[in-house]
Amino acid sequence: MKWKIMLLLLVLAGALVALAWRLWAREDESLDAARARMVAGQLQGRDITDPRVLAAMGKVPRHRFVPGWLAPLAYADQPLPIGQGQTISQPYIVALMSQWAEVRPGDKVLEVGTGSGYQAAVLAELTDRVFSIELLPELTREAQKTLLELGYGKVRLRTGDGYAGWPEEAPFDAILVTAAAPELPPALVAQLQENGRLVIPLGRAGGLQYLKKLRKVKGQLREEATLPVRFVPLVPGEGK
Ligand SMILES: C[S@@+](CC[C@H](N)C(=O)[O-])C[C@H]1O[C@@H](n2cnc3c(N)ncnc32)[C@H](O)[C@@H]1O
Repeated sequence: MKWKIMLLLLVLAGALVALAWRLWAREDESLDAARARMVAGQLQGRDITDPRVLAAMGKVPRHRFVPGWLAPLAYADQPLPIGQGQTISQPYIVALMSQWAEVRPGDKVLEVGTGSGYQAAVLAELTDRVFSIELLPELTREAQKTLLELGYGKVRLRTGDGYAGWPEEAPFDAILVTAAAPELPPALVAQLQENGRLVIPLGRAGGLQYLKKLRKVKGQLREEATLPVRFVPLVPGEGK
């Protein structure tokens, strides 16, 4: 009798595990499908044409970079809260910034404003030399954990003030700033390589902001593209 109950319990436990596995796999499948729809609709449907950027956006699981309860919204056309009053940018903006940065394999890239680590992961699909600075230590810690779990351990993170850049690793082929600065941070301009691309939102918090694509030509910055945007502010730290 006892062994029959044991057997029944074992079968029930097995069925429960199988059910949980199927539900989990279905949720993962539907998130994969949502990601593919996001690439087709929000990116190709607009002006994202770089095949490497499209492939990266189709690969990086954005739902792993947002709080669990927001995973069903991870592929919606919008920024989302990530805690500490900060946000993960809208997928289109991440793709556009990556496209404007023109990252080639082997390029050295600096991101200012790690946040969730999502933009850094997308950049890591384009080159294996990605450096990212975040002002808030809690976000650096969380981003580091997510990046390691997803196999992006090569991305170098640091907690610090992005206004100062990362002088020990300069110069960079591309610098992406994911928070709005009232004016160009001189250290970032100095740390940009000749022919390097600086992608940065400029403007005051809550006011008009413009995302700019700037290229260093003969030591001077030349504007190549611009778009009105809304970003959280680049908070002045010790490097300002
Ligand atoms: C829009 S969020 C970045 C989103 C991020 N790129 C992602 O993929 O999730 C802007 C980030 O910039 C950070 N930040 C603000 N001022 C900064 C500064 N002076 N230096 C470095 N990071 C800063 C904020 O803490 C925030 O995490």
